[in-house]
Amino acid sequence: MKQPGGTDTQKRRAGESAAAAVPDGSVVGFGTGSTAAEAIRALGRRVESGLDIRAIPTSYQSRQLAREASIPLVTLEDAAPDVAIDGADRIAGFDLIKGGGAAHAREKLVATAAGRLWIVADGTKLADTLDRPVPIEVLPDAVPVLEPALESLGGDPTLRAAERKDGPVVTDNGNLVVDCAFGEIATPADLAADLAALPGVVEHGLFVGMAEEIHVGTESGVDVRE
Ligand code: 5RP
Repeated sequence: MKQPGGTDTQKRRAGESAAAAVPDGSVVGFGTGSTAAEAIRALGRRVESGLDIRAIPTSYQSRQLAREASIPLVTLEDAAPDVAIDGADRIAGFDLIKGGGAAHAREKLVATAAGRLWIVADGTKLADTLDRPVPIEVLPDAVPVLEPALESLGGDPTLRAAERKDGPVVTDNGNLVVDCAFGEIATPADLAADLAALPGVVEHGLFVGMAEEIHVGTESGVDVRE
């Protein structure tokens, strides 16, 4: 059963908080996941009341949600995003681990194009240091080469398996995802540079210093960090 101040409520509060801050006329990058979905639904309600926005989705899921909410869609070729709203798997300060939904490559692209990333999350995502496995989108052919390379960086890589069928998760871009545990990541910027330098890595899920605002749903309201 959903609790009044539980995780689902916190996600909804965070999504509504970020959605309420979007100015009329904006082009908004739509992230992926259950908390970003709350922001998309909240923006859909504002659009019903007359808000004029256009959206650049980062996944099949966020495109479908935008369509259901009657929010007009554009691409990066049509318009530059003003802001991106997205969830996160782990938040330490303004550094993030993303990619639980295997959409982090497009999410990072759209957030970088916007130059403004607003994160929406429930309180369970907060941590003192980034301590979860880092999702890494990789070219399918690169897996046997990247596994030892990631181990030599101190990582413990696992190819992400699909939950509902045999075989690996395949991203919207046709690639695979390796989740690589590094324990507590003391220097995320250094690790981000090491991962980005590996041939075969399409994109990793470390978003270092990219968040401009973090909307955290709490048991009683929303804590906005900026
Ligand atoms: C998708 C992501 C998601 O934003 C992240 O996994 C958080 O998802 P949720 O809001 O469902 O907890 O990075 O690639």
